[in-house]
Amino acid sequence: MSRERLSVVVTRRLPEAVETRLSELFDVRLREDDTPMTRSELVEAVKQADILVPTLTDSIDAGLITQAGERLKLIANYGAGVDHIDVATARQRGVLVSNTPGVLTDDTADMTMALILAVTRRIPEGLALMQKGDWSGWAPTALLGGRISGRRLGILGMGRIGQAVARRAAAFGMQVHYHNRRRVRPEIEQALEATYWESLDQMVARMDVISVNCPSTPSTFHLMNARRLGLMKPSAVIVNTSRGEVIDESALARLIRAGDIAGAGLDVYERGSDVAAKLRDLPNVVLLPHMGSATIEGRIEMGEKVIINIKTFEDGHRPPDLVVPGML
Ligand code: DGY
Repeated sequence: MSRERLSVVVTRRLPEAVETRLSELFDVRLREDDTPMTRSELVEAVKQADILVPTLTDSIDAGLITQAGERLKLIANYGAGVDHIDVATARQRGVLVSNTPGVLTDDTADMTMALILAVTRRIPEGLALMQKGDWSGWAPTALLGGRISGRRLGILGMGRIGQAVARRAAAFGMQVHYHNRRRVRPEIEQALEATYWESLDQMVARMDVISVNCPSTPSTFHLMNARRLGLMKPSAVIVNTSRGEVIDESALARLIRAGDIAGAGLDVYERGSDVAAKLRDLPNVVLLPHMGSATIEGRIEMGEKVIINIKTFEDGHRPPDLVVPGML
Protein backbone atom coordinates (compact mmCIF):
# COMPACT_ATOMS: atom_id res chain seq x y z
CA MET A 1 0.00 0.00 0.00
CA SER A 2 1.49 3.33 -0.98
CA ARG A 3 1.63 5.93 1.79
CA GLU A 4 1.08 9.64 1.39
CA ARG A 5 4.31 11.50 0.69
CA LEU A 6 5.61 13.90 3.30
CA SER A 7 5.15 17.53 2.40
CA VAL A 8 8.54 19.27 2.49
CA VAL A 9 9.16 23.01 2.06
CA VAL A 10 12.71 24.10 1.14
CA THR A 11 13.37 27.77 1.89
CA ARG A 12 16.37 28.43 -0.42
CA ARG A 13 17.68 27.21 -3.76
CA LEU A 14 19.89 24.15 -3.19
CA PRO A 15 22.24 22.42 -5.67
CA GLU A 16 20.22 20.87 -8.48
CA ALA A 17 21.17 17.30 -7.57
CA VAL A 18 19.80 17.82 -4.06
CA GLU A 19 16.57 19.44 -5.24
CA THR A 20 16.00 16.65 -7.76
CA ARG A 21 16.52 13.89 -5.20
CA LEU A 22 14.23 15.63 -2.70
CA SER A 23 11.57 15.86 -5.43
CA GLU A 24 11.88 12.14 -6.18
CA LEU A 25 11.33 11.22 -2.54
CA PHE A 26 8.89 13.73 -1.13
CA ASP A 27 6.10 16.12 -2.03
CA VAL A 28 8.46 19.09 -2.22
CA ARG A 29 7.91 22.79 -2.63
CA LEU A 30 11.15 24.29 -3.97
CA ARG A 31 12.12 27.93 -4.06
CA GLU A 32 12.04 29.65 -7.45
CA ASP A 33 14.33 32.61 -6.65
CA ASP A 34 17.60 32.45 -4.75
CA THR A 35 16.39 34.84 -2.08
CA PRO A 36 15.40 34.13 1.50
CA MET A 37 11.68 33.68 2.17
CA THR A 38 9.85 36.64 3.61
CA ARG A 39 8.39 36.30 7.09
CA SER A 40 4.91 35.73 5.68
CA GLU A 41 6.19 33.06 3.30
CA LEU A 42 7.88 31.33 6.24
CA VAL A 43 4.67 31.51 8.29
CA GLU A 44 2.74 29.94 5.41
CA ALA A 45 5.42 27.25 5.08
CA VAL A 46 5.32 26.19 8.74
CA LYS A 47 1.53 26.19 8.69
CA GLN A 48 1.38 23.79 5.75
CA ALA A 49 4.45 21.57 5.76
CA ASP A 50 5.28 18.32 7.53
CA ILE A 51 8.96 19.14 7.20
CA LEU A 52 10.70 22.51 6.84
CA VAL A 53 14.19 22.63 5.31
CA PRO A 54 15.56 26.07 6.25
CA THR A 55 19.07 27.51 6.09
CA LEU A 56 20.99 29.94 8.27
CA THR A 57 19.39 32.89 6.44
CA ASP A 58 15.97 32.08 7.94
CA SER A 59 15.03 33.16 11.42
CA ILE A 60 13.13 30.20 12.89
CA ASP A 61 12.32 31.88 16.18
CA ALA A 62 9.71 31.20 18.84
CA GLY A 63 7.22 33.59 17.17
CA LEU A 64 7.38 31.57 13.97
CA ILE A 65 7.38 28.14 15.58
CA THR A 66 4.30 28.92 17.66
CA GLN A 67 2.42 29.64 14.41
CA ALA A 68 3.28 26.20 13.00
CA GLY A 69 0.45 23.91 12.02
CA GLU A 70 -0.25 20.53 13.60
CA ARG A 71 1.53 18.83 10.69
CA LEU A 72 4.98 20.32 11.24
CA LYS A 73 7.08 17.57 12.78
CA LEU A 74 10.68 18.17 11.72
CA ILE A 75 12.89 21.15 10.94
CA ALA A 76 15.68 19.54 8.88
CA ASN A 77 18.19 22.38 8.74
CA TYR A 78 20.43 22.57 5.68
CA GLY A 79 23.57 23.54 7.60
CA ALA A 80 25.50 22.71 10.74
CA GLY A 81 24.89 25.85 12.84
CA VAL A 82 21.43 26.10 14.39
CA ASP A 83 21.74 29.46 16.12
CA HIS A 84 18.95 30.79 13.86
CA ILE A 85 16.52 28.17 15.22
CA ASP A 86 14.84 28.26 18.62
CA VAL A 87 15.46 24.58 19.30
CA ALA A 88 13.96 24.68 22.81
CA THR A 89 10.63 26.10 21.60
CA ALA A 90 10.55 23.60 18.75
CA ARG A 91 11.02 20.76 21.23
CA GLN A 92 8.28 22.09 23.49
CA ARG A 93 5.94 22.06 20.49
CA GLY A 94 6.94 18.50 19.62
CA VAL A 95 8.90 19.56 16.53
CA LEU A 96 12.26 17.84 16.03
CA VAL A 97 15.30 19.72 14.73
CA SER A 98 18.16 18.14 12.79
CA ASN A 99 21.28 19.59 11.16
CA THR A 100 24.15 18.51 8.88
CA PRO A 101 27.31 18.17 10.98
CA GLY A 102 30.56 16.63 9.77
CA VAL A 103 30.27 17.23 6.04
CA LEU A 104 31.51 20.83 6.19
CA THR A 105 34.33 20.23 8.63
CA ASP A 106 37.22 19.89 6.18
CA ASP A 107 36.07 22.68 3.88
CA THR A 108 35.72 25.11 6.78
CA ALA A 109 39.08 24.09 8.24
CA ASP A 110 40.70 24.59 4.82
CA MET A 111 39.24 28.08 4.65
CA THR A 112 40.52 28.83 8.14
CA MET A 113 44.05 28.03 6.98
CA ALA A 114 43.48 30.08 3.83
CA LEU A 115 42.52 33.09 5.98
CA ILE A 116 45.49 32.63 8.30
CA LEU A 117 47.83 32.58 5.30
CA ALA A 118 46.02 35.40 3.51
CA VAL A 119 46.46 37.72 6.50
CA THR A 120 49.96 36.73 7.57
CA ARG A 121 51.37 36.50 4.01
CA ARG A 122 49.46 39.56 2.72
CA ILE A 123 47.94 37.71 -0.23
CA PRO A 124 45.13 40.24 -0.94
CA GLU A 125 47.68 43.08 -1.05
CA GLY A 126 49.74 41.16 -3.61
CA LEU A 127 46.64 40.36 -5.63
CA ALA A 128 45.51 44.00 -5.62
CA LEU A 129 48.94 45.10 -6.86
CA MET A 130 48.80 42.63 -9.75
CA GLN A 131 45.20 43.45 -10.65
CA LYS A 132 46.01 47.17 -10.80
CA GLY A 133 49.03 46.46 -13.03
CA ASP A 134 51.25 48.27 -10.51
CA TRP A 135 53.88 45.56 -9.94
CA SER A 136 57.32 46.72 -10.99
CA GLY A 137 59.18 43.50 -10.21
CA TRP A 138 60.66 41.54 -7.32
CA ALA A 139 62.25 43.45 -4.45
CA PRO A 140 63.88 41.97 -1.35
CA THR A 141 61.85 44.08 1.04
CA ALA A 142 58.50 44.11 -0.76
CA LEU A 143 55.32 42.73 0.85
CA LEU A 144 57.08 41.00 3.70
CA GLY A 145 54.78 38.89 5.79
CA GLY A 146 55.33 36.58 8.71
CA ARG A 147 56.10 32.83 8.58
CA ILE A 148 53.40 30.75 10.22
CA SER A 149 55.62 27.78 10.98
CA GLY A 150 56.70 27.94 14.61
CA ARG A 151 53.90 30.37 15.53
CA ARG A 152 51.39 29.59 18.27
CA LEU A 153 47.79 29.05 17.17
CA GLY A 154 45.07 29.33 19.83
CA ILE A 155 41.89 27.56 18.78
CA LEU A 156 38.74 28.77 20.49
CA GLY A 157 36.37 25.79 20.32
CA MET A 158 37.87 22.33 19.87
CA GLY A 159 34.94 20.52 18.28
CA ARG A 160 35.06 18.79 14.89
CA ILE A 161 36.14 21.91 12.99
CA GLY A 162 38.59 23.09 15.67
CA GLN A 163 40.30 19.69 15.57
CA ALA A 164 40.44 19.72 11.76
CA VAL A 165 42.07 23.17 11.95
CA ALA A 166 44.53 21.81 14.53
CA ARG A 167 45.57 18.93 12.23
CA ARG A 168 46.20 21.31 9.35
CA ALA A 169 48.00 23.87 11.50
CA ALA A 170 50.29 21.16 12.92
CA ALA A 171 51.16 20.11 9.36
CA PHE A 172 52.14 23.74 8.70
CA GLY A 173 54.47 23.60 11.70
CA MET A 174 52.30 25.68 14.04
CA GLN A 175 52.11 24.94 17.75
CA VAL A 176 48.53 24.12 18.65
CA HIS A 177 46.84 25.51 21.76
CA TYR A 178 43.16 25.48 22.56
CA HIS A 179 40.40 26.56 24.88
CA ASN A 180 37.16 24.63 25.03
CA ARG A 181 34.24 24.29 27.41
CA ARG A 182 35.41 20.75 28.07
CA ARG A 183 38.97 19.51 27.74
CA VAL A 184 39.19 16.98 24.86
CA ARG A 185 40.21 13.37 25.45
CA PRO A 186 43.92 12.85 26.25
CA GLU A 187 44.48 10.74 23.12
CA ILE A 188 43.16 13.58 20.91
CA GLU A 189 45.31 16.12 22.76
CA GLN A 190 48.36 13.89 22.32
CA ALA A 191 47.73 13.23 18.64
CA LEU A 192 47.44 16.97 17.99
CA GLU A 193 50.24 17.84 20.43
CA ALA A 194 47.78 20.43 21.68
CA THR A 195 48.11 22.49 24.85
CA TYR A 196 44.88 23.07 26.76
CA TRP A 197 44.16 26.39 28.45
CA GLU A 198 41.39 26.46 30.99
CA SER A 199 41.68 30.25 31.06
CA LEU A 200 40.80 31.84 27.74
CA ASP A 201 42.43 35.09 28.86
CA GLN A 202 45.72 33.32 29.53
CA MET A 203 45.66 31.68 26.12
CA VAL A 204 44.66 34.80 24.19
CA ALA A 205 47.52 36.82 25.69
CA ARG A 206 50.14 34.33 24.47
CA MET A 207 49.07 33.41 20.95
CA ASP A 208 50.28 34.63 17.55
CA VAL A 209 47.07 33.58 15.82
CA ILE A 210 43.60 33.09 17.32
CA SER A 211 41.07 31.01 15.39
CA VAL A 212 37.41 31.18 16.39
CA ASN A 213 35.77 27.79 15.87
CA CYS A 214 33.05 27.66 18.52
CA PRO A 215 29.30 27.85 17.78
CA SER A 216 27.23 30.93 18.49
CA THR A 217 25.27 30.40 21.71
CA PRO A 218 24.23 32.81 24.46
CA SER A 219 27.43 31.88 26.33
CA THR A 220 29.76 32.54 23.38
CA PHE A 221 28.23 35.92 22.43
CA HIS A 222 31.10 38.43 22.36
CA LEU A 223 33.42 35.91 23.99
CA MET A 224 36.09 37.95 22.21
CA ASN A 225 34.92 41.26 23.65
CA ALA A 226 36.92 44.50 23.77
CA ARG A 227 38.69 43.55 27.00
CA ARG A 228 39.75 40.13 25.74
CA LEU A 229 40.73 41.37 22.28
CA GLY A 230 42.84 43.91 24.13
CA LEU A 231 44.82 41.05 25.69
CA MET A 232 46.10 39.93 22.27
CA LYS A 233 49.70 40.67 21.40
CA PRO A 234 49.98 43.64 19.00
CA SER A 235 51.69 41.28 16.55
CA ALA A 236 48.85 38.72 16.69
CA VAL A 237 46.01 38.14 14.23
CA ILE A 238 42.55 36.66 14.61
CA VAL A 239 40.48 34.63 12.15
CA ASN A 240 36.83 33.64 12.35
CA THR A 241 35.08 31.01 10.21
CA SER A 242 32.41 30.20 12.78
CA ARG A 243 29.88 32.87 13.67
CA GLY A 244 30.34 36.65 13.78
CA GLU A 245 28.56 37.09 17.10
CA VAL A 246 31.53 35.57 18.95
CA ILE A 247 33.66 38.68 18.26
CA ASP A 248 32.77 42.26 19.14
CA GLU A 249 33.25 43.51 15.60
CA SER A 250 33.45 47.22 16.31
CA ALA A 251 35.97 46.67 19.13
CA LEU A 252 38.02 44.56 16.72
CA ALA A 253 37.98 47.30 14.07
CA ARG A 254 39.01 49.87 16.68
CA LEU A 255 41.92 47.78 17.98
CA ILE A 256 43.20 46.98 14.48
CA ARG A 257 43.00 50.64 13.46
CA ALA A 258 44.92 51.60 16.61
CA GLY A 259 47.64 49.03 15.79
CA ASP A 260 46.86 46.98 18.91
CA ILE A 261 46.05 43.88 16.83
CA ALA A 262 48.03 43.10 13.67
CA GLY A 263 45.19 41.87 11.47
CA ALA A 264 42.11 39.74 10.98
CA GLY A 265 40.62 37.26 8.54
CA LEU A 266 36.86 37.08 8.75
CA ASP A 267 34.34 34.91 6.91
CA VAL A 268 31.39 35.72 9.21
CA TYR A 269 30.00 38.90 10.75
CA GLU A 270 28.01 39.99 13.74
CA ARG A 271 25.13 41.38 11.69
CA GLY A 272 25.03 38.94 8.78
CA SER A 273 25.88 40.67 5.50
CA ASP A 274 25.91 44.11 7.16
CA VAL A 275 29.70 44.27 7.65
CA ALA A 276 31.12 47.06 9.85
CA ALA A 277 32.33 49.76 7.44
CA LYS A 278 35.38 50.36 9.64
CA LEU A 279 36.67 46.88 8.77
CA ARG A 280 36.31 47.20 5.03
CA ASP A 281 39.19 49.44 3.98
CA LEU A 282 42.03 47.98 6.05
CA PRO A 283 44.91 46.31 4.19
CA ASN A 284 45.54 43.91 7.07
CA VAL A 285 41.93 42.71 7.21
CA VAL A 286 40.77 39.98 4.83
CA LEU A 287 37.02 39.75 4.48
CA LEU A 288 35.20 36.86 2.81
CA PRO A 289 31.45 36.49 2.20
CA HIS A 290 30.69 33.49 4.47
CA MET A 291 32.12 30.95 2.03
CA GLY A 292 33.97 28.66 4.46
CA SER A 293 31.91 25.61 3.55
CA ALA A 294 31.17 26.62 -0.04
CA THR A 295 32.32 23.62 -2.06
CA ILE A 296 30.00 21.77 -4.42
CA GLU A 297 30.94 18.49 -2.74
CA GLY A 298 30.09 19.86 0.69
CA ARG A 299 26.79 21.35 -0.43
CA ILE A 300 25.71 18.05 -2.00
CA GLU A 301 26.71 16.12 1.13
CA MET A 302 24.72 18.59 3.22
CA GLY A 303 21.70 17.79 1.02
CA GLU A 304 22.30 14.08 1.44
CA LYS A 305 22.32 14.54 5.21
CA VAL A 306 19.04 16.46 5.08
CA ILE A 307 17.50 13.64 3.01
CA ILE A 308 18.76 10.94 5.41
CA ASN A 309 17.34 12.85 8.37
CA ILE A 310 13.93 13.20 6.70
CA LYS A 311 13.85 9.59 5.44
CA THR A 312 14.82 8.21 8.84
CA PHE A 313 12.09 10.28 10.45
CA GLU A 314 9.59 9.08 7.82
CA ASP A 315 10.52 5.49 8.61
CA GLY A 316 9.67 6.08 12.25
CA HIS A 317 13.20 6.33 13.63
CA ARG A 318 15.19 9.06 15.34
CA PRO A 319 16.93 11.23 12.72
CA PRO A 320 20.70 10.66 13.05
CA ASP A 321 21.55 14.35 13.34
CA LEU A 322 18.98 15.36 15.90
CA VAL A 323 19.81 18.59 17.74
CA VAL A 324 18.70 18.78 21.34
CA PRO A 325 18.46 22.04 23.29
CA GLY A 326 21.73 23.03 24.89
CA MET A 327 23.83 20.39 23.10
CA LEU A 328 25.96 22.98 21.27
C1 DGY B 1 26.69 26.21 8.60
O1 DGY B 1 26.26 25.21 8.02
O2 DGY B 1 26.26 26.54 9.69
C2 DGY B 1 27.76 26.97 7.95
O3 DGY B 1 28.04 28.13 8.63
C3 DGY B 1 27.47 27.26 6.50
O4 DGY B 1 28.68 27.68 5.97
